Amino acid sequence: MMLISPCFGCDVAHDLSLEKYEIVNILGIESSCDETAVALYAGDTDTKQGRVLSESIASQIEIHARFGGVVPEVASREHLRVLPMLTAQVMNMANADWQDIDAIAVTSGPGLMGALLVGTSYARAVGLVHHIPVVPIHHMEGHLLAPGLSGDLPAFPFITLLVSGGHTMLVRVDGMGSYTVIGQTLDDAAGECFDKSARVLGLPYPGGPEIARLAQDGDAKRFKLPRPMLQKDNLHFSFSGLKTAVMYAARDLEVLDDQARCDLAAGVEAAIGDVLIKKSMRACKEQGVTSLLVAGGVAANQYLRQKLIREAKKYGVCVNVPAPEYCTDNAAMIAHAAFKRLSAKPYDEQAWDVQARWKLSELTL
Ligand code: KG4
Ligand code: ZN
Repeated sequence: MMLISPCFGCDVAHDLSLEKYEIVNILGIESSCDETAVALYAGDTDTKQGRVLSESIASQIEIHARFGGVVPEVASREHLRVLPMLTAQVMNMANADWQDIDAIAVTSGPGLMGALLVGTSYARAVGLVHHIPVVPIHHMEGHLLAPGLSGDLPAFPFITLLVSGGHTMLVRVDGMGSYTVIGQTLDDAAGECFDKSARVLGLPYPGGPEIARLAQDGDAKRFKLPRPMLQKDNLHFSFSGLKTAVMYAARDLEVLDDQARCDLAAGVEAAIGDVLIKKSMRACKEQGVTSLLVAGGVAANQYLRQKLIREAKKYGVCVNVPAPEYCTDNAAMIAHAAFKRLSAKPYDEQAWDVQARWKLSELTL
């Protein structure tokens, strides 16, 4: 892999030592999949707390809907089209100028290669023009630390349940950049199971919010859906069997009427939620940890959030979940992760490149 120097050969080094700043302003850019997002974030170097000054998101969901899934080439072109516009919006909303920006944080992986290349090239070009250092951020680290956007992160160690469209993992966090995956899915991710079950019920992508909507009017007990891997004495997950069970339950009905769709939606939401909650509690108990963070798109699910907080109380575990808008993909979490990294270790300008595949456990500080 050819590594590109941070500033395309710009010969003046960037100094991002946080001692220089009272407030460090970070422009976050996220374009790893089908949302283009830009946010302006101000980190207080004294309190180590940050706040979002402005943000803007353009979702491509409607564009991809007619293809039944994300089309990578279309995603890249759309990111390219909207990024300058969103950036201008975010700068205007915060009344900011390029001189006010101290760093640009950009998702450099994992994700769709083309989409990542658009975001990182844009960040590098803007950085070069305005002489602003660019900090590459791992998308899942952004999700993992996102609960810190709504308040303090708990003291280390803590466990994070990371549940998105492509990932389902339990991660032990011993410090910034010190992530041990202690459980993960052997097949489909929880979000994928929501999305595929939604497709069976004739609902559009992304399926999670649609299933949650129907589930409100459903009876979760009508269909006996499995709780995969719950009896297994480990912290791993498997959701592909659950999706198949939803498919068979729908097929075996004479008519898949509105009530049956609501009942199946409630059933699958409860099954996914129950497995995630039980495994998370087991993880905390086994690891002797009393703080649990939940992040990623599926963490926006209200059933999961409410039941998890109730259950965790019984185990003496404190739960921290980001606001729903910071569970799904956003740029504030990317800027926030950069601020946490810069606060934990002095900035060390290194050559880097995008990584479409990038394991969280490969990260160091
Ligand atoms: O983190 P995210 O926005 O993107 C990835 O990095 O994958 O997660 C997207 C996933 C999708 O599978 C979507 O169906 C799911 O999160 N999701 C939800 C909800 N909102 C989004 N799942 C259940 N309930 C929700 N309210
Ligand atoms: Zn994500």
